[in-house]
Amino acid sequence: MKQFSVAIAGGGSTYTPDMLEMLCLVREHFPLRRVVLYDIDETRQAHIGRFGEILFREYYPGVEFCYTTDPAKAFTDIDFVLVQIRPGGLAMREQDEKIPLRHGVIGQETCGPGGFAYGMRSVPAMIELVNTIRRYSPEAWILNYSNPAAIVAEATKRVFPDDFRLINICDMPISIMDIFCPLAGGRKRMDIEPRYYGLNHFGWFTAMYDKQTGEDVLPEILEKLQKGGCDDELGFSGKNDDYWNFTFKHLEKMVQDYPHSLPNTYMQYYLYPQTMVAHSDPNYTRANTVIDGREKRVKAYCDEVASLGRMRGTKFDLDRKYSAGSHKNADGEFESATVAHNDAHATYIVELAMSIAYNRNDVFLIITENKGVVPNLSDGMMLEVACRVGARGAEPFRMEEAGTFEKGLLEGQYAYEKLAVDAALEGSYQKALQALAVSRTVADTDLARTILDEYIAANGEHFPVLK
Ligand code: NAD
Ligand code: G6P
Ligand code: MN
Repeated sequence: MKQFSVAIAGGGSTYTPDMLEMLCLVREHFPLRRVVLYDIDETRQAHIGRFGEILFREYYPGVEFCYTTDPAKAFTDIDFVLVQIRPGGLAMREQDEKIPLRHGVIGQETCGPGGFAYGMRSVPAMIELVNTIRRYSPEAWILNYSNPAAIVAEATKRVFPDDFRLINICDMPISIMDIFCPLAGGRKRMDIEPRYYGLNHFGWFTAMYDKQTGEDVLPEILEKLQKGGCDDELGFSGKNDDYWNFTFKHLEKMVQDYPHSLPNTYMQYYLYPQTMVAHSDPNYTRANTVIDGREKRVKAYCDEVASLGRMRGTKFDLDRKYSAGSHKNADGEFESATVAHNDAHATYIVELAMSIAYNRNDVFLIITENKGVVPNLSDGMMLEVACRVGARGAEPFRMEEAGTFEKGLLEGQYAYEKLAVDAALEGSYQKALQALAVSRTVADTDLARTILDEYIAANGEHFPVLK
């Protein structure tokens, strides 16, 4: 069997330890010869790197593991690059969220003005990173999680139009499936083949087919959500943090108001902006929760393994902590399976790499260009839809026409995304203002200008110059 070579860009990401562990867990099915972490922040990455050295020494002997800030070392002779960079870091995420909230507008990482500001940083950084990777490994598969994925995908489509080995993905729809598929007779995500369409963090499930029987079980799930009280059946409350408990519970309300399809959780920011602003604390946003929670937890985890010098025979033992189940039923004897507390993230990207590596053509939700996929939506729109993915890249399933409600929402949101990318690529203040004004989360021009000017001041060198 061929042995593959994998790089993780954004090696210092809080999601990297789970990805490294996942690569070890699938070693029999996806053999590797080399794993390399790449980051621009040497110190941040070193915590994860020292953990990775122990992990691979104990669980994957024979694999060459290293971490580096040298792109030549990172990207030469690579088959897959898994990308999860956060330009500006969590410190700028905090500003992305807090600035609009000061004006009573949604303050969120990827939705509304926060996503715009994050996009201004991510678009140039991603373009530079892809160019760098291509210099050393022209045919490597680049599987990208970096947010805001919708805006990043619109930009990479324009700058690298023929690069079918560059694929943008998101873990939200499959996390939704992990949680809600059990409403259909206890099914699991892997029992289901979904149909879904929209922009990233802005879409709807239209069907969930049982892989064995072909039956669409989405109506059953929707019916239960409409009745409410699903949390009692699923028991997700108390297993996630308050933000996600609120968000998954809110899905019930969305289905009660719009019973025909299952929306992405992020639709709450567009359909209920007042509720979401009221639910936010302008002095302590999601970024603060992540800084005080996941970021600290992941660093402590890696540092503890490094100080023990081993995982086997400790509460970190890989095989035992995963066989003990997900973080949701960790009992203290072993560490929770995923340290990021995200069951889907590492699994999904590794499954995707394997489907490509072995030309399996399994079905994944991928962000891909609309070329008649949803016939009544703009061509060029970067749709998140079900695709078969194999050695030739992603091939989308054709979908039915979007309804008037969804089409109206999507075309407005796509105008915002296009203008945001124009602003980043052209350095245009006018386009940036238009982007914020067309976003239904802002709408008012004077408000848009105030928020934009505060972002420009807060971001300094992190932003492209907007003239
Ligand atoms: P993080 O800040 O912990 O990690 C990001 C890492 O990227 C940092 O170590 C940082 O130094 C590094 N970095 C920044 N710019 C870089 C560049 N130009 N080149 C190389 N490295 C660079 O962030 P996190 O919370 O772990 O999230 C990582 C990324 O994954 C974010 O973009 C986040 O939005 C994204 N994410 C996406 C999804 C999805 O569904 N698409 C899901 C989860 C996370
Ligand atoms: C989901 C989304 C990601 C997003 C993440 C935020 O996984 O799909 O795009 O980055 O949630 O999680 P956080 O814990 O950082 O707020
Ligand atoms: Mn996402």
